[in-house]
Amino acid sequence: MKILVLGSGAREHAIILGLRAEQTDHEIFVAPGNAGIAQDATPVRLDPLDGAAITEFANENAVDLVVVGPEAPLVAGVADVLRERGIPVFGPGRAAAQLEGSKSFAKRIMDAAGVPTGRAVRAATTAEVEAAFDDLGAPHVVKADGLAAGKGVIVTSDRAEALAHAEQYLPSGPVLVEEFLSGPEVSLFFLSDGDTVRALSPAQDFKRALDGDEGPNTGGMGAYSPLPWLAEQFGSERAFVDEVTRDVALPVIRQLDSEGTPFIGLLYAGLILTQAGVRVIEFNARFGDPETQVVLPRLVTPLSELLLAAASGTLEDQPAPEFRDDVAITVVVASEGYPEAPQTGRPIEGLAEAASVEGVRLVHAATASPDAPGGSLVATGGRVLNVVATASDFRTARDRAYEAIGRIRLEGSHHRTDIAARVAE
Ligand code: AMP
Ligand code: GLY
Repeated sequence: MKILVLGSGAREHAIILGLRAEQTDHEIFVAPGNAGIAQDATPVRLDPLDGAAITEFANENAVDLVVVGPEAPLVAGVADVLRERGIPVFGPGRAAAQLEGSKSFAKRIMDAAGVPTGRAVRAATTAEVEAAFDDLGAPHVVKADGLAAGKGVIVTSDRAEALAHAEQYLPSGPVLVEEFLSGPEVSLFFLSDGDTVRALSPAQDFKRALDGDEGPNTGGMGAYSPLPWLAEQFGSERAFVDEVTRDVALPVIRQLDSEGTPFIGLLYAGLILTQAGVRVIEFNARFGDPETQVVLPRLVTPLSELLLAAASGTLEDQPAPEFRDDVAITVVVASEGYPEAPQTGRPIEGLAEAASVEGVRLVHAATASPDAPGGSLVATGGRVLNVVATASDFRTARDRAYEAIGRIRLEGSHHRTDIAARVAE
């Protein structure tokens, strides 16, 4: 198959490694990719936001499938442009991508579909925000309405801090004040062809910057899959997945279809398991990062077949995706200063030594080729590398991941040391 992947982060690298793991002769292009991805796919100079240029490239090169990695091209309507020209594309159109692009759109769809989520109030002024705080109580949850790369949300018991966060976003539109939900979080991905869904295996993301879930929210500092503790609460992982499919994914997919905006691509359900049951905290319209890095290495079913079936409306013919029992963890290596003010441009060394640890793969998030031949790769962003380790148990996977991290040298870098620590005990 000829496949074009749009994006340049670790998620896209993980998708490409998943396609490569099938050991079929896929020809894989990436636009624009990064230095690590360039070792596994052919980079093409295309702007992922330029639907016309991507269409032209896909037609000229007889591309069978375009996979849109990040949210920005989806919200910009790139999938619509491709689909109009008959190119199979994995990723929702602009309208359905509002599920991620607008928190109030997502709330409206959930209300219409009867999907369990926290109570939320749309507040356009400081006074309305204060009234919502009074109504919903502490801790306070404030969300910017649009895309904010994981930084639009604050959860705090400090009312002044919550209000200041709201006031930062109010000039550009209303914010959502939400009921605080308490419990473990789960990320569950569904492939959707607009009508049928197929669930992948659950994962957990570590969103805070520092050990012990301290520090600011980030795009995600690590993840693991599967979640053995789900079996204690639900009897089995399958029972949990079936419940969320029935109560969350299918109602949302049906609702979007009934509005004439079918969701074709990856529905990411961000869930909190409260005492009162499963609640949706957010939807994303694309694979999660870093969860994809731990879900796809466990996938046995060929990824390309699943993505193509979703893109071409034939998911019903696909059996439920299968996963191996091996566990996977990923630890993110971040630049000094991430998330507030990442220092970039620094050399990264020790990658070959790190990759030689058994069961370890390096997935690149923000790397560029050396300035001079024979030099080191350089870090170009906040989240730089994902060390992914698989093993038969979490303790071994953790040992492998942290052994590999110890071999990587990037001045000032930081990472969490407690990824999957509790589940390994
Ligand atoms: P979001 O961008 O909506 O995923 O929010 C980022 C993070 O904030 C989530 O992963 C949760 O840890 C936390 N969060 C969001 N909404 C709530 C809520 N209603 N109650 C408690 N925590 C929340
Ligand atoms: N890991 C969170 C996200 O992908 O949005």
